Amino acid sequence: MKTNRRESKMWFITMLLTVAVTSCNSTATEQTPSLKDAYQNKFVIGTALNKGHNYGTDTLGINLIKQHFNSIVAENCMKSMHIQPSEGVFFFDEADKFVEFGEANNMNIIGHTLIWHSQAPDWFFVDEEGADVTREVMIERMRNHILTVVGRYKGRVDGWDVVNEAIMDDGSWRNTKFYEIIGDEYIKLAFQFANEADPDAELYYNDYAMSAEGKRNGVVELVKQLQAAGVRVDGIGMQGHMGMDYPDISEFEKSIKAFADLHMNVMITEMDITLLPFPGEETAEVSLSAEYQEKMNPYAAGLPDDINAAWEQRYIDYFQLFLNYSDNISRVTLWGLTDADTWRNDWPMVGRTDYPLLFDRDYQAKPVVDKLIELTINNE
Ligand code: G3I
Repeated sequence: MKTNRRESKMWFITMLLTVAVTSCNSTATEQTPSLKDAYQNKFVIGTALNKGHNYGTDTLGINLIKQHFNSIVAENCMKSMHIQPSEGVFFFDEADKFVEFGEANNMNIIGHTLIWHSQAPDWFFVDEEGADVTREVMIERMRNHILTVVGRYKGRVDGWDVVNEAIMDDGSWRNTKFYEIIGDEYIKLAFQFANEADPDAELYYNDYAMSAEGKRNGVVELVKQLQAAGVRVDGIGMQGHMGMDYPDISEFEKSIKAFADLHMNVMITEMDITLLPFPGEETAEVSLSAEYQEKMNPYAAGLPDDINAAWEQRYIDYFQLFLNYSDNISRVTLWGLTDADTWRNDWPMVGRTDYPLLFDRDYQAKPVVDKLIELTINNE
């Protein structure tokens, strides 16, 4: 149900008036109109939940999530090293809480991630002597992992990042243990197992640096191969870990178009915009690490206004792009809630102060939130 532009304007004015009238009695976190309501006719708005959210200890965070988001993804608790730390020993406690929270609040629930070379426990790939397992054993372990995890949440988790980060920036296949031991059938098998476990859950391929031409072409090729083999893939996740100069917005747009042309749901799955300098070439390769250097932490004492203004504009430019493709984009998810708990503070250098998300360290919506909400009015 799409509203017209005049109705939207009225809605926004009404929201602001409501906020003004009720502000005497409300807490600061309740004063901003909601992102999820503003974008309700466009795409769902998601955020990644951490341990404090899943166990309900971060109560201020929980309030913000309920207010602004209608989609959630598990930041860490469903990764294989957490959910199956030893063979056949599953730790579902945190993931159960995550799913229960989403259900209780009627949210779109995303499982992240079934098959990822990183954060996979060592046992997955080796036998008791530490030698690589055979192809058959590897396939069986993968099948068992996927059937057990997806099966547990059948009918409750709406979509799964089935395979994460399997293609390199040049389009070649990443030489992971899954690839090395099973060969290039492993992605197809992962999707088939996930489909077997829950035929109604949406199944996604998810990756970073999706604006790179090589990766774009590699992912297109992969999805075409899966489609030709009759394997169900429903969507492509473009992670969206961005900087101020990277990625180029027109290259990002080319990838949205290329993926939409495959009849895929396109999703922005892990968006954040870092303001910190990167030691080396920018990437989201999680295994990178570097020694702390003061000069690489320029905003520890606060953010200059001009830098903040440029950062806001970049968010606005990207959300405008997403609005332009709202017929193809089904979800935009931020990778975390506040600047206090973003992975960006500790990667690839531990202990820095970054500002990549929409809510500040005091759980306040940044001014950009209202600007993103306002953007929807001009796009009805
Ligand atoms: O919870 C433990 C804590 O008990 C321990 O004291 C501390 C000491 O190192 O580690 C804590 O765990 C950390 C965990 O984040 C929770 O904060 C892990 O070390 C750390 O490796 C882990 O990092 C996560 C990273 O993936 C690796 O799994 C980040 O939170 C998470 O944001 C990041 O997310 C990835 C996506 O899954 C895939 N795409 C890239 C994205 C960013 O790297």
